[in-house]
Amino acid sequence: MPDVSFGAIDESALAELARRLAPALHDGGVVHLTGALGAGKTTFARALLGALGVRARVKSPTYSLIESYECDGLGIQHLDLYRIAGAGEVEWLGLRDYAAERQLWLIEWPERARDAVPPADLVVHLAHAGDRRTLRLEALTPAGSLWVKALEASGRTQIGTAG
Ligand SMILES: Nc1ncnc2c1ncn2[C@@H]1O[C@H](COP(=O)(O)OP(=O)(O)OP(=O)(O)O)[C@@H](O)[C@H]1O
Ligand SMILES: [Mg+2]
Repeated sequence: MPDVSFGAIDESALAELARRLAPALHDGGVVHLTGALGAGKTTFARALLGALGVRARVKSPTYSLIESYECDGLGIQHLDLYRIAGAGEVEWLGLRDYAAERQLWLIEWPERARDAVPPADLVVHLAHAGDRRTLRLEALTPAGSLWVKALEASGRTQIGTAG
């Protein structure tokens, strides 16, 4: 399974990578976003959603836990599970109802809910690197692999890599 990393990326390079990933996600799937507070998970999600055509302002789901969007017939669920105390707390979100349909899931802090959230096709790992960030894309399913390959094929893969 593909596993690619980008080093020393600034905010605009991060947004560009998200925009390059977006076209592959038009049919839905599951993206987990991991990394410390402020690592850039919501920044990445916001750029991705904009590129998918979401025109609404993308709010961080820090307090609501979930923000839902619909774009070109694709339902999109953006979650931030930082504040939940355990997997049991996501029961009320009724995720199983959503899971019946084809959806795109963007899940920040998925580890807080363990297996109460859909398993990832792709994990976006973000980390602080001084005032920049590192980004690693880890595909876990054949669908996730296709997305990473599409991103790599979409242009230069050397954006912002530490040289
Ligand atoms: N290279 C970069 N990529 C992303 N964000 C950056 C970068 N450099 C600086 N920033 C800033 O870091 C912050 C990232 O915040 P963001 O809300 O995206 O983080 P997060 O990972 O979603 O945090 P949380 O766990 O609190 O939800 C923003 O204020 C953004 O402007
Ligand atoms: Mg966030």
